[in-house]
Amino acid sequence: MRFHVLTLFPEMIEQGIHTSILGRAIQNGYLQVETTNIRDFSANKFHRVDDYPYGGGAGMVMEAEPVFRAHQSVTEKLGRMPRTIYLTPQGKVLNQTMVEEFALEEDLILLCGHYEGIDDRVLQEVVTDYVSIGDYVLTGGELGAMVLIDAVSRFVPGVLSNEESSQFESLQDNLLEYPHYTRPEEWHGKKVPEVLLCGDHKKIDAWRHEESFRRTKERRPDLLENAFLITCACDETQPGAEQIHKLMDELTRYGKSIDLARKKIRRQKNRFGEKEFLLLQIPIEPAPDAPVMDPGEYTENFYGRKTPLVLILSGGEEMADEQWNEKAFLIESDLCARGFLIVALVREVPFGEGLKRFSFTLRDLIYTGKWKNEKILASADAL
Ligand code: ADE
Repeated sequence: MRFHVLTLFPEMIEQGIHTSILGRAIQNGYLQVETTNIRDFSANKFHRVDDYPYGGGAGMVMEAEPVFRAHQSVTEKLGRMPRTIYLTPQGKVLNQTMVEEFALEEDLILLCGHYEGIDDRVLQEVVTDYVSIGDYVLTGGELGAMVLIDAVSRFVPGVLSNEESSQFESLQDNLLEYPHYTRPEEWHGKKVPEVLLCGDHKKIDAWRHEESFRRTKERRPDLLENAFLITCACDETQPGAEQIHKLMDELTRYGKSIDLARKKIRRQKNRFGEKEFLLLQIPIEPAPDAPVMDPGEYTENFYGRKTPLVLILSGGEEMADEQWNEKAFLIESDLCARGFLIVALVREVPFGEGLKRFSFTLRDLIYTGKWKNEKILASADAL
């Protein structure tokens, strides 16, 4: 992956990225970080790049032209227009989902401002994303760019060794990570929790989940507002089951799974609460070998309590659009009447990179609470 940083202080970036894990990744060719000095593109003989603001007021504003030319020097070299991120306290506050999404790009241009900001006209022309690293004001965008490079690089294949890339990401499921311990077993009179010594991984996982929850409640109760226990329900005998499990792996560490192929499961009452999130996949037109004939039978014992639901209606490729929409409407209405809030309706879980992108869209929807106002309605190829 290549980062192209447009800045007035290239040495600040250069000094920050050549040590530790990033330094190693650059040396091994997994990352490239190139800096472009905006001052080199000044048309002024004194290399000035700022001027007084129209309308008056304190401070200076960076001129549009040098920024535009610096940007152009990168896009001309690349022969295309990569995503261009302007680091600014007025941007969307960086989060883990954004970080992982940026990591899918091959090139990212990071634009660092100084003084009171940059002439808005050039921002309108070149910037695709406005990103802040937190609600405070820095003297310039360089530290923000370095934070972003560090966080994004962790998701670039090859940057972290196996040991370094722990499966569990703090902030997955909107929960903070559980506490960690290493030897000795007792230190300053404090013992390692016994459960961690028992070797029973189910018990250990349950304890870690509880600790994550407890810690989040204590330190970041705001995160719990949008923390959900995600359950996936699908007919394991039908096509697409494997794909929905891959999606679950992208969304949650603590998810549950319900197999709708099992009669016992379909017969029992399956109740879901407000802090649960359901991913439901059912065939819109069950195949002759499916355990039910009518898709509604899969969920006739499902009851929600304002439970958000992502509905995946698989199959039905040969159905006319009108017939598909009619059937989908009936299934949706039935689930709404049972207490579910449909936040997304799709025809299948996408494959390959599409799966990752779909998972980011869902994570953004689930873990920021956007699902309360937005609904995704799309065919797989629209995602
Ligand atoms: N530049 C100045 N303040 C910033 C912030 N909080 N995030 C990103 N870039 C900035």
